[in-house]
Amino acid sequence: MRGKMRTYLVTGGAGFIGSNYIHYMFRKYGDDIRIINVDALTYAGNPENLKSVENRENYTFIKADICDKEAVEKVFAQNDIDRVVHFAAESHVDRSIRNPEVFVQTNVLGTAVMLNCARAAWEREDGSYPEGKRFLHVSTDEVYGSLEKEGEYFYETTPYAPRSPYSASKAGSDMLVKAYMDTYRFPANITNCSNNYGPYQFPEKLIPLIINNALQGKKLPVYGDGKNVRDWLYVEDHAKAIDMVQEKGRLFQTYNIGGHNEKQNIEIVNIIIETLQEMLSEDDPRKALVSKELITYVEDRKGHDRRYAIAPDKIRSEIGWEPETMFAEGIRKTIAWYFANEEWMRNVTSGEYQKYYEEMYR
Ligand code: NAD
Ligand code: DAU
Repeated sequence: MRGKMRTYLVTGGAGFIGSNYIHYMFRKYGDDIRIINVDALTYAGNPENLKSVENRENYTFIKADICDKEAVEKVFAQNDIDRVVHFAAESHVDRSIRNPEVFVQTNVLGTAVMLNCARAAWEREDGSYPEGKRFLHVSTDEVYGSLEKEGEYFYETTPYAPRSPYSASKAGSDMLVKAYMDTYRFPANITNCSNNYGPYQFPEKLIPLIINNALQGKKLPVYGDGKNVRDWLYVEDHAKAIDMVQEKGRLFQTYNIGGHNEKQNIEIVNIIIETLQEMLSEDDPRKALVSKELITYVEDRKGHDRRYAIAPDKIRSEIGWEPETMFAEGIRKTIAWYFANEEWMRNVTSGEYQKYYEEMYR
């Protein structure tokens, strides 16, 4: 006889990585798992990302703010949650520079609410936890600060040195998870991942912003000298890593996840332009618009971290995860997705986005 169906509580599942993770999990486990997605649907949360799963019997969407303790308690009271995968956060560095408070609210307080409710639901009287309960906190490599020297990498042992309001708030949330593990032996893991790219990414982030602007012949804003380095990972590889950490990772451990794919921002912009030119057919009117002449160097981001680079040695040796998607392949898949989903892009860039874009890039 089959055991009880495992129930996942995913927070922030209507965002970029969360929705890719939900699709990955249903592709992998089908009807063998149940997913409850709690998302407040901020500007970054988009129910359209989950259209193809919304009618599944083993999927439930709950619109709620993770800072709302009563709402989160109710989810735990009404469901026997086995796994929490906590994505919900304010995620954009530029927005955190303009408006830090909401980052502290959602990322720090929201994580505290999630931890508290999970602990209240799971902890037995003797302080132990039932087998199989696990909380995975999805975090970022930005908590380690900025690498200034060639050849340096972020390891799980690298001291935290966040430099933006976003990364400071994520570091705060990581510390809370660590405190719960140390104080209550709360069954958790933390993953710190590098920059993701792929389908459903909101066009405030570099890659979808450049794709969208280039196709419209709009300027391509490159901050500073364009030589800041990020370590890009295809989002599906991240989804797989998260699942593998919950399946095979040792509890109470942190795992760094990275793409082994360091590139300067200007290289990324050039690759996108070249790939668009290759992929657009001769009779497509957008082909004439896509050009390197659109590249425009603009004022640098305040406190712009120079370089991020993950050494994913621990997750490879302990769990057997490695990045699978080469950048040349991942960027083609990403561009193909944006070609096939023009309406998605039109919908997310109408309204509020225009105002954000004008204020940010004026
Ligand atoms: P995103 O901004 O695309 O999505 C965030 C989601 O969280 C949205 O659906 C939003 O509606 C929801 N949300 C925000 N505030 C909420 C609240 N108070 N209550 C409930 N839901 C709320 O973000 P993303 O890029 O998918 O990132 C997901 C997680 O992964 C974040 O924790 C982020 O720090 C982390 N991360 C992101 C990257 C990256 O490259 N994007 C890399 C490493 C780690
Ligand atoms: O490293 C992981 C982090 O990656 C995540 O924790 C964050 O949630 C995610 O947003 C991302 O942060 P970055 O700041 O690195 O990503 P972003 O796409 O905003 O910027 C990537 C690089 O491109 C960065 O050096 C700034 C630069 N940039 C960005 C934009 C939006 C530009 O030059 N021009 C732009 O218009």
